[in-house]
Amino acid sequence: MTRDDELSSLVARRLGTEVLATSSVGWGFSAVTLRVRLSSGRHQIAQLRARPEALSIVRATRSLRACGVPVPYVAHVLRATDESAWILFEEVAGDVAAARLGSAAEVGMAATIGSTLAVVQACSASAFTPDPAWVDGRALVASVQRWSQDAEAPVRAAVVASSERVASRSWIPAVSHGDFAPVNVLMAGSAVTALIDLADVRRRHPLVDAAWHLLIVRHHHPASFAGLVDPFLDGSFGRAGRPTEARLADVAVARAAQLASGSPFIGRAHLYELLSTALAWVAAALREAPHN
Ligand SMILES: Nc1ncnc2c1ncn2[C@@H]1O[C@H](COP(=O)(O)OP(=O)(O)O)[C@@H](O)[C@H]1O
Ligand SMILES: [Mg+2]
Repeated sequence: MTRDDELSSLVARRLGTEVLATSSVGWGFSAVTLRVRLSSGRHQIAQLRARPEALSIVRATRSLRACGVPVPYVAHVLRATDESAWILFEEVAGDVAAARLGSAAEVGMAATIGSTLAVVQACSASAFTPDPAWVDGRALVASVQRWSQDAEAPVRAAVVASSERVASRSWIPAVSHGDFAPVNVLMAGSAVTALIDLADVRRRHPLVDAAWHLLIVRHHHPASFAGLVDPFLDGSFGRAGRPTEARLADVAVARAAQLASGSPFIGRAHLYELLSTALAWVAAALREAPHN
């Protein structure tokens, strides 16, 4: 049975509804995601996830919606096997923001995405599980040492130095999306219609999402990067609370090291490329402002 057939028979059995058609979605990376048309005429997005991940997505969706963050509605969660479940989301209008980078709209878009990040950060963190590596500086340095233990010595030294600079200032953990990249932001017109891909929402250092977002832009859209840093950071932190690029780059290094160390073999090469872009970003930022 194909995935589509599996899903159709599950939907028929559990919801008493017919899946009239399935199609693939334009973007998407780790999860199996299908767009489905139901006999009611509605479109939903069906995504196959490991069950702990599905649970984590459902929880994050509820908690984020409760604090005003735009997220898709979860219509159903259907257990597929002992290990996996299909989540059916209501389809949200819009395109991923990544599709619009490079267009004239990108500066306004960066400010809007930044202000959506500010809404995430304004959520009360107590409703979200902590990511143990990011509870404080000591935990972060110890974690980064572990994540980088197989790296070559100079890379390891640079990664650990980043984490030590991050750890030199204490922080209050905030809600973090965990993969706040332009591919995980849906936009229609000039508005953010949903943040998606909510499997890794946790409490972390308050710069993790901004750092990750800018790292992804720097890596995949280098021509856009310089023009988007200011509007994005103004949108997310305002002028007064604005972090330096050096600090963001250090946080991006630690986050890339974390994701690379935990990633299955297939995705790891890409995460090492991101780590190396993050290290180059640190070097450039420190050259420009050596005392930050
Ligand atoms: N609720 C939704 N409405 C519309 N499109 C969605 C929705 N959820 C996911 N998608 C589409 O599916 C793609 C993959 O979803 P995502 O949750 O980001 O999984 P992945 O881990 O594979 O990146 C998205 O890039 C988007 O195109
Ligand atoms: Mg995604």
